[in-house]
Amino acid sequence: MTVLVTGAAGFIGANFVYHLLDARPAERVVGLDKLTYAGNLDNLSAISEACRERFTFQKADITDAEAIAGLFAKHDFAAVVNFAAETHVDRSIHGPQVFLETNILGTHVLLEACKKAWFVDGKWLAGHRFLQVSTDEVYGSLGPAGLFSESTPLDPHSPYSASKASADLVVQAYHDTYGMPTAITRCSNNYGPYQFPEKLIPLMIRNALAHEKLPVYGDGKHVRDWLHVSDHCRAIDLVLERAAPGSVYNIGGMNEHENIAIVKLIIKKLNALTHDAGINERLIQHVEDRLGHDRRYAIDASKIGRELGWRPQIEFAEGIESTVAWYLENRDWTEKVVSGEYMEFYAKNYTL
Ligand code: NAD
Ligand code: DAU
Repeated sequence: MTVLVTGAAGFIGANFVYHLLDARPAERVVGLDKLTYAGNLDNLSAISEACRERFTFQKADITDAEAIAGLFAKHDFAAVVNFAAETHVDRSIHGPQVFLETNILGTHVLLEACKKAWFVDGKWLAGHRFLQVSTDEVYGSLGPAGLFSESTPLDPHSPYSASKASADLVVQAYHDTYGMPTAITRCSNNYGPYQFPEKLIPLMIRNALAHEKLPVYGDGKHVRDWLHVSDHCRAIDLVLERAAPGSVYNIGGMNEHENIAIVKLIIKKLNALTHDAGINERLIQHVEDRLGHDRRYAIDASKIGRELGWRPQIEFAEGIESTVAWYLENRDWTEKVVSGEYMEFYAKNYTL
């Protein structure tokens, strides 16, 4: 079978390509990506010689219906895993339009392509699946107690999360209306290798190594539920393989931390690895809060545990240590990613 992975040159998409090639040796993978500022072919450069002949990369935009139709004409896809998206909340606040275009309309283009290819003579081809990679942010924000379950009402706050929630509704509509074999996963914050250094963890590692300010939004007491990207990839693979059509699964780390605690932990880990006295808590700067900043996310992942037997395998202490070590060993990867344009964007918007 051939699996189409969209957003394959991004953080989770690339990690998922490695996972699939390794975990499913009989399958072929086509990785599609528009290569926006977040897409980076370096992220796929570690595909082994042995796996390379089962992998094809295709540069394409998921909003381009003609290009997507052309790709479906060339390959017999049995599954589509849609990671392609604009993903950074801060960027969505400053420029929402591309979020609506890619995240909603792009998802719709993919759904239509699957429907054309898989709905044959009034029936859906057996064993096919469209998996939409969504986010816990569609549920909105929690107070100090409680968890998001799959039946928590959608209540997105940022243009990013509103676009992801809209896409979820369109995916669900394709299941409910046409009987399309869909699945939706809603995961909490990922961390690990190849994450674009605009996101909290890689940004803090990079800035600390450069002795630059560590901008913590507001009081820093916002809470996220962190999950190692490899645990997320395993969960998606299970859902792809075993979920009932139309199902939704939450995925989370059961691993809540305040942002300020994460930043202090990164400083500690970097200190231990580099013995650099310039990396210290004096670099922390509380800056203006993100507009509409969700206070707390936390996932109830009991459904995927109960039904598919998934559990996170990577302890946070071990995962954050190996992640910090990865960014330290791959400083050239980060510095290559940090383009002039990117720095200009941040200089304009997010530094004091
Ligand atoms: P990312 O920004 O690192 O990667 C997104 C990829 O999509 C990039 O390679 C980009 O070039 C590509 N892309 C953007 N627009 C495109 C378009 N129009 N056509 C084709 N490709 C396009 O993001 P990520 O963190 O890897 O997130 C992947 C998916 O997982 C997203 O759908 C996101 O909403 C979801 N998600 C992320 C997290 C997280 O913590 N990072 C958590 C839950 C869900
Ligand atoms: O919860 C899943 C979501 O996690 C995904 O859907 C998104 O695509 C992904 O970007 C992520 O969203 P967040 O907004 O939670 O991640 P981010 O890394 O941008 O920020 C994490 C927290 O850290 C958040 O409370 C904002 C804060 N923050 C972030 C940055 C970049 C800071 O305090 N300072 C910063 O410089």
